[in-house]
Amino acid sequence: MAVTESESRQKPLPKGAREAMEQLNAEAGALNIWLRTQANAPAQRPWFRDTGLDMAGQIAGGRVGTGQTKALAHRWRWREISAYLDRIAEIARNADVPPIEFADRQQFLLTNPGFGGRLQVASTIRCAISIYNPGDIAPAHVHSPNASRTILSEKGGYTNVEGERCDAHRGDIIITPNGTWHDHGNEAEQPVVWIDMLDWPLMEFLDCAWVDQEFHPASGTNAKSQETIHHNGYSNHLYGHGGMVPTFISHQLGFGRDPSPMIHFRGTRIREALDGLRREKGDPHEGIQMQFVNPVTGAPVFPTLNYQAQLLRPGEATLPKRETSGTFIVVIDGKGKTEIGGETFDWEPNDIMVVPNFIWRRHINTGSGDAVLYTVSDSALLRNIGQYRAQGKDQHGKVVQLVQ
Ligand SMILES: [Fe+2]
Repeated sequence: MAVTESESRQKPLPKGAREAMEQLNAEAGALNIWLRTQANAPAQRPWFRDTGLDMAGQIAGGRVGTGQTKALAHRWRWREISAYLDRIAEIARNADVPPIEFADRQQFLLTNPGFGGRLQVASTIRCAISIYNPGDIAPAHVHSPNASRTILSEKGGYTNVEGERCDAHRGDIIITPNGTWHDHGNEAEQPVVWIDMLDWPLMEFLDCAWVDQEFHPASGTNAKSQETIHHNGYSNHLYGHGGMVPTFISHQLGFGRDPSPMIHFRGTRIREALDGLRREKGDPHEGIQMQFVNPVTGAPVFPTLNYQAQLLRPGEATLPKRETSGTFIVVIDGKGKTEIGGETFDWEPNDIMVVPNFIWRRHINTGSGDAVLYTVSDSALLRNIGQYRAQGKDQHGKVVQLVQ
């Protein structure tokens, strides 16, 4: 309701400007406006000035801070969470209608404790862990979020992306760029487990998250599975020649902006590539690290998310690093610990961690063998909008600018 002249006259305002404005705010809220009574209080302090390893950031309070959120560092232990997959699979085997029919997927989603139950692990990343029983099919569909799956099972299961059949093996990364039709299933005799990662929270924030599974443009039907047009390994066949790309085909896949036409990165080849570089010095903050790229443009596979694999050799400890991007980590092999903002998380295969943006972190391989970590971060997005910065510490603890 509007404040009339007579109403204003009836309420003498206090002399103090803040109190006077707070009093007016009690009425003005009904008009969906707020008279400013606090200075800006963003969730991030000038992080690049802090040097303490325990700097984990605070969320500002008050009216300005309302609605701000901040991811917390967290580790999900595989030995604690994986039992729920078995329980989901058991329910599915015995149920009249399996969860995949009424919930689209058989999975649990990871929630970051800093986000109050929202389905996201970092500012831009959603993560689910899925189990497919023999015979399960997730019907062909298309959506605006970019997505990927990191395969945890030794073998079994497939993803079909725009007609290319991708047979899944442990350590594989299969991407489904926005605008690509894809379907999943398991024709093996054992359940198959993988980790889905999407930039869904970002699309949700932009209010452009959508999914369609009504009508497949190639087949003209809404058949459950796409017809296999390209054999397993097709995109490797075309693009797996490091530094060379074929000139006789279109590189456009789906309708996204320059999505990577290389959609299936094989775990065995990732490991070979890392191992082949093990005698290099590597990066003091990352060890031996490889980035997955669109082979045509050299850019990250998605304009939003950047995928990487890193090898930490026995005894290797990286130096502290922090970035404006958030990082999600899946332990593929080895044992170690990661310090994040002053907290130490030990890890073993299939454990999952999130390193929030702006927070110092470093990895230590504490095992007797190699450790391999896969990471996904929104550094691709932040680079694209000119917001990516990174700092490291040298061996003397001095802060060095890695990306200004
Ligand atoms: Fe999907």
